[in-house]
Amino acid sequence: MQLLITGGLGFIGSNLVRYLLNTHPDYTIINLDAVTYAGHPENLFAVTNNPRYKFVKGRIEDPNVVNDIVSGKRFGAIDGIINLAAESHVDRSISDPAVFVQTNVMGTQVLLEAAYKHGKLPTGGFRIKYVQVSTDEVYGSLGPTGLFTEETPLAANSPYSASKAAADLLCRAYFHTFGFPAVITRCSNNYGPYQHPEKLIPLFITNCFVNKQVPVYGDGLNVRDWLHVEDHCRAIDLAFHKGQAGEVYNIGGNNERTNMQITQLVLKELGKGPELIKYVEDRLGHDRRYAIDSTKIQNELGWKPIHTFETGIYQTIAWYKTNQSWLNAVTKQPDFAPVVVPVTTATVV
Ligand SMILES: NC(=O)c1ccc[n+]([C@@H]2O[C@H](COP(=O)([O-])OP(=O)(O)OC[C@H]3O[C@@H](n4cnc5c(N)ncnc54)[C@H](O)[C@@H]3O)[C@@H](O)[C@H]2O)c1
Repeated sequence: MQLLITGGLGFIGSNLVRYLLNTHPDYTIINLDAVTYAGHPENLFAVTNNPRYKFVKGRIEDPNVVNDIVSGKRFGAIDGIINLAAESHVDRSISDPAVFVQTNVMGTQVLLEAAYKHGKLPTGGFRIKYVQVSTDEVYGSLGPTGLFTEETPLAANSPYSASKAAADLLCRAYFHTFGFPAVITRCSNNYGPYQHPEKLIPLFITNCFVNKQVPVYGDGLNVRDWLHVEDHCRAIDLAFHKGQAGEVYNIGGNNERTNMQITQLVLKELGKGPELIKYVEDRLGHDRRYAIDSTKIQNELGWKPIHTFETGIYQTIAWYKTNQSWLNAVTKQPDFAPVVVPVTTATVV
């Protein structure tokens, strides 16, 4: 099989490329990535010389580059597309929403159209399978109880989640209208190696390394359901191979933590005290709680998370400790400008 993975230089994408190359020794992977501030060639140094790995620098919303690959002109026929390319940071979507629509919405449409056009078989059906890697954030925010199921109505609240919801609806439309076999996965928050240090867990870990305060939004009681990135990769692999066309699969770790619990855990593991906690003004429109019911993917595709949070988080902290050169490389990337988070004078509690 030859698969097109988009966004393969990012956090989840790079873990997925490694996972697929290791798990399927007869697969070839084409990685299409724009190499934005969030895409790091360092993430895939280990596979650069693998003859089953091909890299193309380009944007998913560019029909020329996408059609060149999906038509088979560039590398021969492809059998599937897994779309992870995205602008993925909620804070950036608040300060600059336009690029989120361009990449996440327009880009998805270009990929779907190319796959539809080039994948259609004269005998009916399609040669190219498609997985859209989406997020639980499309469901909006939960109160103190309840879980997101695949039937929960979409109620995206941030420009990021709205752009991901729009992309999901395009996948639904290509299935409903054209019968194109798109599958959507909606996963909760991921953690693990190779995550950009602008995201909560690596930001807090790496700030602790240099005794810099960690910015906690609002009261620190927003809840996320954390899943190890390798468990997410296994779920995507299953969704690609066994997922039913037109279906949505929720993926979650059944592992709810408040941001403050995560903060305290990271500080404790790195031998730091509460003086490093800095409460900052809450994110605009901050969703309070996400929690996933992943019964469907467990029952229908046989997926189960392998990593426990307790071991996964300690391994992740250890990974950042031993990969300082990676850290230096990604934060010194020329087009990386940290998002400015507003700071309050609230006292540490
Ligand atoms: N990180 C999470 O916790 C999480 C959870 C659920 C779903 N997701 C989804 O998984 C996917 C990957 O997330 P991530 O955390 O790895 O993101 P990331 O920001 O680490 O990586 C995104 C990658 O996409 C590339 N990219 C950006 N714009 C592009 C464009 N126009 N064309 C081609 N490539 C482009 C970047 O260069 C980068 O390599 C996203 O679609 C995201 O919405 C992420």
